[in-house]
Amino acid sequence: MNTINRDRLRKLKEREEKRFVAEHPKSAELYGRARNSLLGGVPMNWMKKWAGAFPVFVAKAKGAHFTDVDGREYVDLCLGDTGAMTGHSPDVVAEAIARRVREGITLMLPTEDSLWVGEELKRRFSLPYWQFALTATDANRFAIRIAREITQRPKILAYNYCYHGTVDESFAGLHDGIVGPRRGNIGPPVNPAETTRVVEFNDLNALEDALKQHDVAVLLAEPAMTNVGIILPDAGYWKAALELTRKYGTLLIADETHTICVGPGGCTKEWKLEPDFVVFGKPIGSGIPGSTYGVTEEVAQRISARIALEDCDVGGIGGTLAGNALSLAAMRATLENVLTAAAFEKMIPLAKRFSDGVASGIKRNALPWNVIQLGARAEYHFTEKTQRNGGESAAAADFELERFLHLYALNRGVLLTPFHNMALMCPATTAADVDLHTQVFAEAARELTA
Ligand SMILES: Cc1ncc(COP(=O)(O)O)c(C=O)c1O
Repeated sequence: MNTINRDRLRKLKEREEKRFVAEHPKSAELYGRARNSLLGGVPMNWMKKWAGAFPVFVAKAKGAHFTDVDGREYVDLCLGDTGAMTGHSPDVVAEAIARRVREGITLMLPTEDSLWVGEELKRRFSLPYWQFALTATDANRFAIRIAREITQRPKILAYNYCYHGTVDESFAGLHDGIVGPRRGNIGPPVNPAETTRVVEFNDLNALEDALKQHDVAVLLAEPAMTNVGIILPDAGYWKAALELTRKYGTLLIADETHTICVGPGGCTKEWKLEPDFVVFGKPIGSGIPGSTYGVTEEVAQRISARIALEDCDVGGIGGTLAGNALSLAAMRATLENVLTAAAFEKMIPLAKRFSDGVASGIKRNALPWNVIQLGARAEYHFTEKTQRNGGESAAAADFELERFLHLYALNRGVLLTPFHNMALMCPATTAADVDLHTQVFAEAARELTA
């Protein structure tokens, strides 16, 4: 097996960094200007994380492609970290949005679209009742509040290295087995050890130990972890985990915001999970802000037993714009026409094609890496074997190598997600788009090991 020569990696990275700056003069100019008015020169702090001296400024995007202000074209495998899993601006959604924008955007009153969407979500996920928020973060936060309220328990349980948006309780990690703030946690309101227990994914003994004290309201989980690389559950993990949560009176939130990539009803439907809540945000409105959370009949009854009409607007579940007419119009158009069963039938084989392409590049260059697929998403890791939990996966990360590979791809017209090595297919992605990545990846691997 080849190991990475760090000197060579640094030299190649320097070469790519120079090329990037030389080929993006207009983005460089806009970034220079942005530094005078935007904190850190970006509209949102994680935009600083892109490989390269500055982010590429976008001119326009359509389907699986975008063009930057320098006129360079890209295959977009990042797709707004799943926010644009529908492809950019699908025509049918753009038209529905344009219609709605002319007819009222937000009223604090329902539109018929909300009914259509609720009925469709019920059909997809087999949960009877739905509510809306603006972000997946908020949907998770509201589901957690409800869980705490109806169980009257203080703690939540999360997996080590999970990500569920900016939910305070979930910014906790294990340090030598002790729960504490996760690295980089900015101004935690309290030490998350007060609010949260943390266990490794795929460890049923640890899960039972965490639940045993009967003080955990809810387990907040992605059915497969996707935010520290893709980590699949062991066979039988969810069946046993669900039995444990039920045994100890803990509820389960299945956060399907990323795992929706396995099919129209996410892992909940594909793997026949029976969570108490389902959360789904990001692509549900093709990128128009909106998210949803669904609950079981039992949760619904327990909520209505505890929430009085007079207090329902001041209970901490809110958002003036939540459930607005525009979000719901975008969700309806997306669910009805874009994220359909037929679209998944196209996207999932493309993710397989991506994985096969990467696997052949890995093999040809004798690299000790692996690639893993989850529905329409795929990802490569810098270890020979696949990982079983967040701790293992985080330990195998290689920031320098990752940045080099991302920049190498970007310089050749392929955008990967800036966090780890993730690629996502949308309904407009083509085999040629995937093959461009395969070619670029193989070339990077060859240069690294030459
Ligand atoms: C699984 C999961 N849940 C929730 C979120 C939060 O989404 P948002 O940033 O739109 O609130 C993310 C964001 O990456 C996510 O990956």
